[in-house]
Amino acid sequence: MVRTIIFGVTGYTGVELVRLLASHPDAMIAGGSSRQWAGKKASEIFPSLRGGYDFVLSTADDLQGVRADVAFLALPHGESARFVRPLLDSGLKVIDLSADCRLHDPQMYREWYGPHQDPEILARAVYGLPEIHRKEIAQASLAANPGCYPTSVILGVAPLMTQNLADTSVVIADSKSGISGAGRGSKLTTSFCEAGEGFKPYGILRHRHIPEMEQELSLLKGDRVRVRFSPHLIPVSRGMVSTIYLPLKGPTTAEVIRERYETFYSAEPFVQALPAGALPDTLQVRGANACHIAVEVDDRTGILVVVSALDNLTKGASGNAVQNMNIMMGLNETAGLMGLPLFP
Ligand SMILES: NC(=O)c1ccc[n+]([C@@H]2O[C@H](COP(=O)([O-])OP(=O)(O)OC[C@H]3O[C@@H](n4cnc5c(N)ncnc54)[C@H](OP(=O)(O)O)[C@@H]3O)[C@@H](O)[C@H]2O)c1
Repeated sequence: MVRTIIFGVTGYTGVELVRLLASHPDAMIAGGSSRQWAGKKASEIFPSLRGGYDFVLSTADDLQGVRADVAFLALPHGESARFVRPLLDSGLKVIDLSADCRLHDPQMYREWYGPHQDPEILARAVYGLPEIHRKEIAQASLAANPGCYPTSVILGVAPLMTQNLADTSVVIADSKSGISGAGRGSKLTTSFCEAGEGFKPYGILRHRHIPEMEQELSLLKGDRVRVRFSPHLIPVSRGMVSTIYLPLKGPTTAEVIRERYETFYSAEPFVQALPAGALPDTLQVRGANACHIAVEVDDRTGILVVVSALDNLTKGASGNAVQNMNIMMGLNETAGLMGLPLFP
């Protein structure tokens, strides 16, 4: 049994990890941290855990002393970094859900997030998107779990980056996220009255997920890629859709492009290239470690439209993190992750 500990277990991604690990056949939770609720039982904070999986919450410092094989850091960016090196030094595998290990270039981190607490750890991290970096993840001790928007955009265009089908030098992505993407801490802009019935863009010119998308897409293409990214908040608790536009390089058909996607993702258990006529829907991936992708060709404008959907808390965060754990620990990659979506 793989013993896991979860830093920030009372946040949305933390409790999603609990939900997934509770039915994992080869892993168990040895402890979780919270500043506010240290000393209480997890089920006191999340009544959904009553009668089932339970454990006592501790401070993050105390959690570092708990015997474990894998640590999940489900903390805000800027907070994760200080735990990474001590956990690695203690021999644990570390999966960081925050942005603290995602960028390879320390200068880039500073530019988008501010000073890094331990910039040297960036060189030790593998970008934890299994569909792109599975082999490196298998060898890694530190996986930087991707952001939810980047997962939807990178998986959305990865099959095209080495092809001559569309111009991928500037990727235009228009994305919508459920409110849980902003985390559990109360903020006025994500409160019910201000987000419950509205639909609004934010961070239109400078969202922090841009540099990691550009980093990964440039690596895939072998040339510099820019991302024109427009995120929006939609009044649902979980779910994300990215609609991506790329100019076609010449006449082609949706069938040709769809075939490319089907081939690229044919061996992937969690990415579905949808058949002709089908479009992704957040309700079809809700709570599942799944990403659904559709492509359409607009002959009138010569634009290729890619639409991807995932659950920001599952394939966009905690499900992907469990997938990383499975790969890093030599378990079956799909273990604990084959649950169907919560439909409707
Ligand atoms: N939400 C998503 O859809 C999503 C998707 C992908 C990645 N992520 C990333 O995953 C990380 C966690 O996100 P989340 O949405 O789960 O956040 P969240 O709901 O705000 O939860 C944060 C957790 O960290 C703890 N915490 C907060 N500040 C802390 C500090 N200074 N020291 C120690 N613990 C602290 C909180 O509990 P206490 O306050 O009790 O300590 C809570 O358990 C973030 O870096 C986020 O960017 C989130």
